[in-house]
Amino acid sequence: MGRPKITVVGAGNVGGTTAQRLAEKDGYEVVLVDIVEGVPQGKALDITQAGPVCGYGTRVVGTNGYDETAGSSVAVITSGIPRKPGMSRDELLTTNAKIVKSVVSELVSRSPNVILILVTNPLDAMVHVARRVSGLPKSRVLGMAGVLDSARMRSFIAAELNVPGPDVDAMVLGGHGDTMVPLPRYTTVKGKPVSELMSKERLDGIVERTREGGAEIVGLLKTGSAFYAPSASAVDMVEAIVKDQKRVLPCAVLCEGEYGLKDVVVGVPVKLGRGGAEQVVEYELTAEEQAGLVNSARAVRELCATVDRLMA
Ligand code: NAI
Ligand code: 2OP
Repeated sequence: MGRPKITVVGAGNVGGTTAQRLAEKDGYEVVLVDIVEGVPQGKALDITQAGPVCGYGTRVVGTNGYDETAGSSVAVITSGIPRKPGMSRDELLTTNAKIVKSVVSELVSRSPNVILILVTNPLDAMVHVARRVSGLPKSRVLGMAGVLDSARMRSFIAAELNVPGPDVDAMVLGGHGDTMVPLPRYTTVKGKPVSELMSKERLDGIVERTREGGAEIVGLLKTGSAFYAPSASAVDMVEAIVKDQKRVLPCAVLCEGEYGLKDVVVGVPVKLGRGGAEQVVEYELTAEEQAGLVNSARAVRELCATVDRLMA
């Protein structure tokens, strides 16, 4: 058996760094696709040439077509336009829905067994589009957002308490937007509830900063959005799937009754393994947390209805 093939579509900031991180794992064959001629080829060559220095032998192929993607185990879709300062993720809807639609058709026709990880924003609506277009089972169409949003919360807590980031566990549910639902009750530092380690005011501040985490970076960068933590988060999901790790990570998937949510894509804890999203894990929520999740699902549903109208 050769190395599993992972395709990354979009060779921009998130896609390029995702390909780099995957190459550095030295366990995959990586294909990088973009519509701009030369960019995926150039980045693929550059990443490959870093191999002898960094100690990996990964073959990275850059292309403007899809034939090289055939037989992919997982495809990470980052193609689309990112936010500029002052733009909401939802403003990206029309342009990115068209891009995701065409990319998904090209991918699935050549890799019928592929598992799709959407990154393109607005995230939850793009998972919805990818499901509709691909016809793949819900276990094989996932969105990356919760890992990133949780990582932001973990890093803010780590900085506040002066502990290493990996020692902090956090869970952020809901849509990838202003309505996301960080769960302080399920946030711990080496098993200790975070509520015992900092005041409610400080924790509330961190919850708020987490909700605004993407915008904070857009405001600083001014020409685009975050990509180091997003690419790390996407690769975490790829590894959990390909290595059949059965880790529970927050991912955007179609809910069909879980958490009382019907037919809506939203971020929930998911057990990831070779089958993709193998199980939605149901945490016990307080009435307030549940209301937050329902509210977030409502916002996603409205966006999906808009995208359905646009694509009809
Ligand atoms: P970028 O502009 O650096 O890269 C996007 C790439 O997509 C460009 O290279 C562009 O040429 C390519 N592209 C456009 N249309 C294409 C098509 N039809 N086929 C193939 N490639 C195509 O943007 P960046 O920063 O990499 O962000 C990408 C997307 O990911 C954005 O929509 C952004 O909002 C989203 N994002 C989502 C996150 C999440 O948590 N879900 C986190 C960070 C970014
Ligand atoms: C982020 O949260 C822009 O969705 C992207 O950084």
